[in-house]
Amino acid sequence: MAWLDAGAADAFPQGGSKVDLAGRTLALFRIEDDFYVIGDTCSHAMASLSEGELWDYDVECPLHGAEFDVRTGVPRTLPATQPVPTYEVRIEKGRVMVNVDAGGGSR
Ligand code: FES
Repeated sequence: MAWLDAGAADAFPQGGSKVDLAGRTLALFRIEDDFYVIGDTCSHAMASLSEGELWDYDVECPLHGAEFDVRTGVPRTLPATQPVPTYEVRIEKGRVMVNVDAGGGSR
């Protein structure tokens, strides 16, 4: 299990940020003081989910508009039908730690 430091929690703005960890491009979402990490690449095509708009816990893909629940990676609307990987997150001494093994994918 590999927990990697994504950065200082306070440094992340509300909403989405792109994070590169262990060769994976991840989308980190800050909602108030909670953090969620999913694969950054939309399961429909090659759009970056960290650049999408966030509505409550749903991020809207900027390319074709599929919405994914950032807590589960599951698409809630078409055209995406497949989930994106999710990654465990914990805050340690003010740092956002991500378990890069948890997603099981390289998206
Ligand atoms: S690339 Fe995301 S919905 Fe098409």
